[in-house]
Amino acid sequence: MTQESERRGARPASRAIAALAVTAVLAAVLFVYLPESAYPWVKAFHIIAVIAWMAGMLYLPRLFVYHADADRGSIQSETFKVMERRLLRAIINPAMTATWVLGLWLAWKVFAFQGGWLHAKIALVFLLSGVHGYLSAAVRRFAEDRNDKPARHWRMVNEIPTLLMIGIVILVVVKPF
Ligand code: HEM
Repeated sequence: MTQESERRGARPASRAIAALAVTAVLAAVLFVYLPESAYPWVKAFHIIAVIAWMAGMLYLPRLFVYHADADRGSIQSETFKVMERRLLRAIINPAMTATWVLGLWLAWKVFAFQGGWLHAKIALVFLLSGVHGYLSAAVRRFAEDRNDKPARHWRMVNEIPTLLMIGIVILVVVKPF
């Protein structure tokens, strides 16, 4: 197997499992070592991580809109591939892990996982993480010139993180139930 195919072959499912394991271990370590008095700091970094994650989740499908219309093999298409891969690996993936780890600490240590708003929020964050998985798979398909979805599809996908974000922020700030 060549180095390139080994790199690409690092199976998406095992990568996702590894990411979940890292998230769970980091959350447990923080839970044990960070006292409750760290609450404002953890919340501040949670919000910073959320901003970075959402910036990427809103920008990536925008790139797909333009990439879908670029000719395969063209300079534009190859440039989009680099931009998409870097955005996913350098910003979106680490920001999602940090959001989950710090969010779980807050939910566990400060709220003991109690509250309808918190359960509903976590459900919406699961959906958002599912969209994240869908976009990661699309980055791989675009990288291999296998995207078969039109720009219109990516324009619509672009709206989903926005809608989920609105619901999540209202739930955590207003806490309606
Ligand atoms: C990964 C799962 C997540 C969990 C378990 C979680 C949990 C929490 C908890 C328990 C708080 C503290 C609430 C308070 O102090 O009143 C919080 C704050 C916050 N979260 Fe999350 N969160 C998660 C992901 C997200 C996401 C994806 C977003 C936005 C898209 C988000 C946006 C916020 C905001 C804006 C605050 C500050 C709210 C305030 O201070 O009034 N969180 N989160």
